[in-house]
Amino acid sequence: GAPVEVNISKLEPGQLIRVEWRGKPVWVVRRTEAVLKELPVHENQLRDPASEEEQQPEYAKNGVRSIKPEYFIAVGICTHLGCSPTYLPDSFGEQVEGVSSGFFCPCHGSKFDMAGRVFQGVPAPLNLVIPPHQYLDDANVIIG
Ligand code: FES
Repeated sequence: GAPVEVNISKLEPGQLIRVEWRGKPVWVVRRTEAVLKELPVHENQLRDPASEEEQQPEYAKNGVRSIKPEYFIAVGICTHLGCSPTYLPDSFGEQVEGVSSGFFCPCHGSKFDMAGRVFQGVPAPLNLVIPPHQYLDDANVIIG
């Protein structure tokens, strides 16, 4: 499949856009400062906080799993059986204590944080996949 170019200049904080790459949904999320502050706080609730178990780009192996902390780019497919999780921008607190937003898979209840890291005690075995991507400039990112 061909790489996909995404213009991110109009993304508001908290907003998610979906694009398709190689037939898969890919999310581009602009994370808020509050979300970025939360990411290190709940690492003790995650299965693989440092994303050591994945095959994925080197630039995704950091605490925010992205090149630019503000923008999170992930394949929107649950690592359990392939459903697409739902983005919960402001109601995750009811799902996981102390975490304000994240992704919830409706099929069997897997939960992922705003870096796509899976919480403990759910069926999904791995963090969400980060696709290869690079920034062309401040407004455009290319996926693939
Ligand atoms: Fe997502 Fe099973 S497919 S929890």
